[in-house]
Amino acid sequence: MISIAIFGFGAVGQGVAEVLLRKRKQLESLIGKYKVVAVTDSKGSVVDENGVELSKAIEKKKKGGFDGEKTLGVIESLDFDVAIEVTPTDVNSGEPGLTHILKSIEKGADVITSNKGPLVVAFKKIKKLAEKKGVKLGYEATVGGVMPIIKLAKADLAGNDIKVIKGVLNGTCNYILTRMEKEKMTYSQVLSEAQELKIAEADPSYDVEGIDSAAKLVILANAVMDMDAIFDDVEVVGITRITPEAFEVAANKNYTIRLIAEANKEKGFLKVSPRLLPRNHPLAIEGTMNAALIKTDLAGDIVVMGKGAGKYETASAIISDLVEFYRKR
Ligand SMILES: NC(=O)c1ccc[n+]([C@@H]2O[C@H](COP(=O)([O-])OP(=O)(O)OC[C@H]3O[C@@H](n4cnc5c(N)ncnc54)[C@H](OP(=O)(O)O)[C@@H]3O)[C@@H](O)[C@H]2O)c1
Repeated sequence: MISIAIFGFGAVGQGVAEVLLRKRKQLESLIGKYKVVAVTDSKGSVVDENGVELSKAIEKKKKGGFDGEKTLGVIESLDFDVAIEVTPTDVNSGEPGLTHILKSIEKGADVITSNKGPLVVAFKKIKKLAEKKGVKLGYEATVGGVMPIIKLAKADLAGNDIKVIKGVLNGTCNYILTRMEKEKMTYSQVLSEAQELKIAEADPSYDVEGIDSAAKLVILANAVMDMDAIFDDVEVVGITRITPEAFEVAANKNYTIRLIAEANKEKGFLKVSPRLLPRNHPLAIEGTMNAALIKTDLAGDIVVMGKGAGKYETASAIISDLVEFYRKR
């Protein structure tokens, strides 16, 4: 019986819980029996060694949240096989996720996360500790939401040298740029629209200044390109200064503008910036989609595309790590 602890019970945490509930039969045919022994939020937790009733926990969360022991206490006092760490991203400190991840690994638990912060701040430290403790680390959900890229690069492209990854890694920016181009609207007009539609946050700076894309780039560079990168290595320019006129000039030459994150091992740089792309370029995608172009020595160029965010989309990436870890042989 696999014991799962879920740290963070917002959109993604609840999405994972719903999938674990709804798809139990299908998932248990792949990985065997499982139970969720704890779910936690910023204020407390619901814990049951015999298995938390997830539908009740979701109900309780909707009515206000948890009380009882906080996450660190739960990690110390409870036995679990795998931690699903889905607390908010902080790319400066990595916290609270970094401590949750390190303490879970110290205990000998496997870890799956969608939280970019800990990996941006301490990828090497986490990886080394996981190796020392002989536990597995899954982070497919940190980059590109559901778009399969990390396992694709590490497993399906195993044996290749990945020389360059270029991608549209932030759906909010891509939505804003697509609308500016199509509707000839200004940046601030589209931003207000995106905020109304909840595609952009009330404070959009993390997305529109390119920070989110840069964080994902650092994870890709370290995880699949062996580049030993830190956040400060990334040259970052966001999309706030792009004008409708820039799109007009680009359109006259049959080009468009997208926020491109590029990790280039050959030339040794990491960069996030608005770039001109021919309209028929595979990265000239529209709306909130994400896409990436992976340049390899053996397999040539590979392009992937998928939804960059969303409760169930992100849960899908987390579940894929879970199934990879525990698939019955
Ligand atoms: N949403 C997406 O589509 C998406 C896609 C890819 C990656 N991600 C990443 O996945 C993570 C979760 O995203 P989300 O959208 O689910 O965020 P969210 O809705 O803001 O939920 C975050 C959850 O973490 C809890 N939390 C905060 N501090 C905590 C602590 N110290 N201990 C335990 N729980 C704590 C919050 O508690 P309260 O409920 O008490 O505030 C909340 O339940 C983030 O790192 C995000 O960047 C999200």
